[in-house]
Amino acid sequence: MTESAQRCGVRILATGSCVPERRLTNDDLSKLVDTNDEWIVQRTGIHERRVCDPSTEGTFTMARDALKNALDAAGLKGSDLDLIIVGTVTAEMTCPSVAARVSAALGATPAAAFDLSAACCGFVYSMNIAQALIASGQFRTIGVVGAECMTSIVDYSDRTVSILFGDAAGAAILRRDPDPRIGCLYSMMGADGTGWESLYIPRRTQEVPAFDRDNPIRLGHLRMNGKEVFRFAVTKFREVIEDALKQTGLTAETVGQVICHQSNIRIIEAARAKLELPNEKVYVNIDRFGNSSAGSVGLCLDQLWRAGKIEKERPFVMVAFGGGLTWASGVWRV
Ligand code: COA
Repeated sequence: MTESAQRCGVRILATGSCVPERRLTNDDLSKLVDTNDEWIVQRTGIHERRVCDPSTEGTFTMARDALKNALDAAGLKGSDLDLIIVGTVTAEMTCPSVAARVSAALGATPAAAFDLSAACCGFVYSMNIAQALIASGQFRTIGVVGAECMTSIVDYSDRTVSILFGDAAGAAILRRDPDPRIGCLYSMMGADGTGWESLYIPRRTQEVPAFDRDNPIRLGHLRMNGKEVFRFAVTKFREVIEDALKQTGLTAETVGQVICHQSNIRIIEAARAKLELPNEKVYVNIDRFGNSSAGSVGLCLDQLWRAGKIEKERPFVMVAFGGGLTWASGVWRV
């Protein structure tokens, strides 16, 4: 057996994140669309979200700064990375990838670099793929980022979409470790493309589904069937967490943090209550950051990591669902 083919562990060396300074409150939104603070808080749990200054900030700058933040915390440089993966659906350009620009900015050449499109699952999908690439022996050190400038694709005349989303990026540095007990204990990824019409970003009128053709559409902006997504998410979220616990033999008592994609407080709370997970194991920051799509799980992970809430003894779970439709989980021991 070659060294690269030997069973190894995958260590999360450090995490990082980046959120813009600018805040968009519910009251600010009520000046743009017919909505109000009470409705938004009650239906979503969101009080405010962060928004990029489009003249200086975007997916690339947030991804770059989140990864730099993680590299600094790990005591590494860009040149220590063998691969950068950026989970995003809001890349400024389809070519080059955000990852390639981040690589250039952080001096990571000739590390491999690519973007991964799995909507709100972008970070969890990327973490799962990165750990598999390390475990296969192909890469040693990978920078994983989930970054999303949702404000660049939100139609601020659409009150169902504009209230939910914010901008953020989260990152983690993964490295091959000699201890095979460290790393991803279980990962799962799924998709149901037949549900794509619930959440889509049309670039051409030909792509707009029949049911939406009579509605005012702004090409390049997110369309969402909120009720449909809610229905899907409320069941899928619970199922995915349940599966992750079952496959690893963990229980509500023995698991550490369950880091959920911050979609809607009612979706998170429904899963938490059904699975009888204690409040303190299900981190919530949607009140301050809204739904930042692929940025959300990485941001939560970084905030928990820096607060010392990711315990060595207790494996933690990351779970997400999103456009595609997609869903994913990963159970990690650090
Ligand atoms: N402000 C005030 N009223 C609003 C509103 C807003 N922003 N948006 C909708 N309403 C109104 C509706 O017009 C409707 O009024 P009516 O009863 O007079 O017809 C009423 O509020 C209820 O609308 P409804 O669409 O049933 O609300 P909801 O409880 O389903 O909440 C969402 C809407 C979008 C918050 C909710 O469906 C949701 O969160 N879905 C999941 C979205 C998601 O997670 N997307 C990301 C996936 S990663």
